[in-house]
Amino acid sequence: TGFITLDPGYKNSGSCTSEITFLDGELGILRYRGYSIEDLAEKASFPEVSYLLIFGELPTAQQLAQFDADIKKHTLVNEEMKNIIDGFPKTAHPMGVLSALTSALTAFNPKAVNVENEKEMYEAICKTIAKFLVIATWTYRKTMGYPLNYYDNTKGYVENFMQLMFRLPTGPYAANPIIVNALDKLFILHGDHEQNCSTSTVRMVGSSHAGLFASISAGVSALWGPLHGGANQAVLEMLEEINKDGGDTDKFMAKAKDKNDPFRLMGFGHRVYKNFDPRARIIKKAADEVLNTLGVDDPILAIAKKLEAAALVDEYFVSRKLYPNVDFYSGIIYRALGIPTDMFTVMFAIGRLPGWIAQWKEMRENKEPIGRPRQIYTGHPLREFKSNK
Ligand code: CMC
Repeated sequence: TGFITLDPGYKNSGSCTSEITFLDGELGILRYRGYSIEDLAEKASFPEVSYLLIFGELPTAQQLAQFDADIKKHTLVNEEMKNIIDGFPKTAHPMGVLSALTSALTAFNPKAVNVENEKEMYEAICKTIAKFLVIATWTYRKTMGYPLNYYDNTKGYVENFMQLMFRLPTGPYAANPIIVNALDKLFILHGDHEQNCSTSTVRMVGSSHAGLFASISAGVSALWGPLHGGANQAVLEMLEEINKDGGDTDKFMAKAKDKNDPFRLMGFGHRVYKNFDPRARIIKKAADEVLNTLGVDDPILAIAKKLEAAALVDEYFVSRKLYPNVDFYSGIIYRALGIPTDMFTVMFAIGRLPGWIAQWKEMRENKEPIGRPRQIYTGHPLREFKSNK
């Protein structure tokens, strides 16, 4: 019944048409809705870029203010959600808790969204953006045993992230504007990356007309893996290993080049970007700014700088076009900001949320059919039933 093409990992199969993100790995180009990532990272804010990704055009000042106000209508999370988070052990990985809590939001918002109704779609989107940030930070507060914070509607989205994470019950709290600015950039750079594993998952789950919360929850699970969003955690673990070993970066460079040694320099090289990762260039600048301004003195960061400088002039790395990728620098910034290693992938999820929403919305609006790949069966031919009992 028809001819089936086998393409494991969908390396050569397009799953959809999309107007959201353009990516050219050979030339190192990344654009959201036609705007270069360089321009957006430098000139726009994360809420502005979220609006652009989801609705297709940059918002006017009035549209952006309205978007912000509409998000703020939904920043309270049902108190009963706290019973759910209380059921997890303190040692639970934040990504598992985030996926579960996102899915649990469905229980408190059981009405299916009518995607034909623009107002209902808009409200569901604002609700998701508001509640996701709050529950993402709750996963950290839980591991620390801190009381859970609420969104402060007098502050902006990224500033709220810092408050939700780090504000303690007593004393004043003001997020450092340099940190807020660096995080804003990081979130923008993670905003969308066309049909990557988690985004394809969101579209696939949504194609069965499962709701937005359920689809996003599945995206969080897909992002969790070390081959995807988990790579930023691996970079920091490698730097810690080098530090524990005495900090000899030359030794680890030699290991990375030794074909008999499986060790690789984590955070170098990329499957799609073969010249450079445009996001890494922008992040590197932000990382330097953050480290200099905060005057951070951390042996791990010194090791990262030494490795980066050595690899950029090393014949092995240069000839193979192995440049630092986005994960190399993002982990360094997160660490400098005091964000624990197991929260790194949650940071990625917060940045990727508008991309997931945009892709889900596009998929539903384009009335895409349910995702249902075929297979090539390699099992037994028909066998006669004979009990083995
Ligand atoms: N350290 C040392 N050698 C490397 C590295 C590295 N990080 N990356 C690639 N090479 C070598 C590899 O051994 C091969 O050498 P040769 O030609 O002599 O056999 C050559 O470079 C080409 O490598 P490849 O494995 O064929 O390239 P790939 O496109 O299949 O792999 C990669 C890309 C990202 C998986 C790989 O570069 C890697 O493992 N990097 C480290 C892990 C990492 O940082 N991952 C995060 C990627 S960005 C996150 C995302 O966007 O999802």
